[in-house]
Amino acid sequence: MAITKSLYGELNGVKVYTFTLENKNGMKAEIIEKGATLEKLFVKDKNGNFIDVLSGHDTLEGHTERSDYQGVVVGQYANRIKGGKFSIDGTEYTLTKNDNGITCLHGGGEYSSAVWTGTETSDKSLTFTYFSKDGTDGFPGNVKASVTYELTDNDELILAYNAISDKKTVINLTNHAYFNLNGFDSGDILDHDLQIDADYFTPIDETSIPLKMAEAVNNTPFDFRTTKKIGKDINNTDCVQIKNGNGYDHNFIINDSDGTLKTCAVAKGDKSGITMEVKTTLPGVQFYTGNFLDGTILGKQEKPLTKRCSFCLETQVFPDSPNHQDWCKCVYDKDEEYKSQTVFAFSL
Ligand code: GLA
Repeated sequence: MAITKSLYGELNGVKVYTFTLENKNGMKAEIIEKGATLEKLFVKDKNGNFIDVLSGHDTLEGHTERSDYQGVVVGQYANRIKGGKFSIDGTEYTLTKNDNGITCLHGGGEYSSAVWTGTETSDKSLTFTYFSKDGTDGFPGNVKASVTYELTDNDELILAYNAISDKKTVINLTNHAYFNLNGFDSGDILDHDLQIDADYFTPIDETSIPLKMAEAVNNTPFDFRTTKKIGKDINNTDCVQIKNGNGYDHNFIINDSDGTLKTCAVAKGDKSGITMEVKTTLPGVQFYTGNFLDGTILGKQEKPLTKRCSFCLETQVFPDSPNHQDWCKCVYDKDEEYKSQTVFAFSL
């Protein structure tokens, strides 16, 4: 096990460090303090070569100016909040509307743009902390948030999130890594195999706002209960949900979620043979297929990020739940701890 730390750059006068975690098998994770971003993840493929399975950026300029949330930690509230507002105990809070000027997306971008402070917490883990001031992007509470990245010798990357607020508030933290299990520069992800353990997903309108909490996946392109290629039904525009999401950009409701770690998805790169299993304590996972990438943004090694060059499995509570507080727990009292865990486990 080894951890290294080095200077990555400087953002508005603040030094930004990068850390590398390496396990005994040679698997490596690189995380930078800006956005507590998972920048690179080197996993062994079937030919014995280590390949980087994350698309995204490899310069500070890329991370700050071109980022489509690639690899970042998203908060204070991941995913969308309708109309950029919600209420707690009769008090209405107005948020930054950074999605089409009508919706709050990914908390307005505060946590993902911030420089977090990274520290080594053991010989195989790093903790990144961030303090969000009361009222930032409209969210109540001074919030102390942290994410711990741990790389085990079993090739698992474990992300453990904690947050605590001095006022009643809403919290939903996730990581927005974009995976291509064939390697970041190996074309689209349409031939990846995917299985998602969900009987229901959350249908959305044309602005990606939930229409209701749950709709059955049965007989729809959203049925991933048995493994299928990501590309099989992705262009089935007879399905209004595929049309509304411009592909997959939906929350899946994880079967039998009970707050303990559950496997919610298993994906496999068709060329690399790399399998990734996603486990989480959270009730939902947003499956997003890079529908808005169109090659205009340059990513790692200045190569364009093309449509569907990667996919996300963002573990979370359900989108817009601050406006549907009976859907799942998303409101936290003053001093009540928010806690969640997500594991990305790799094998061949
Ligand atoms: C999330 C959203 C998508 C998109 C990406 C970032 O996954 O659900 O609609 O906004 O973030 O581009």
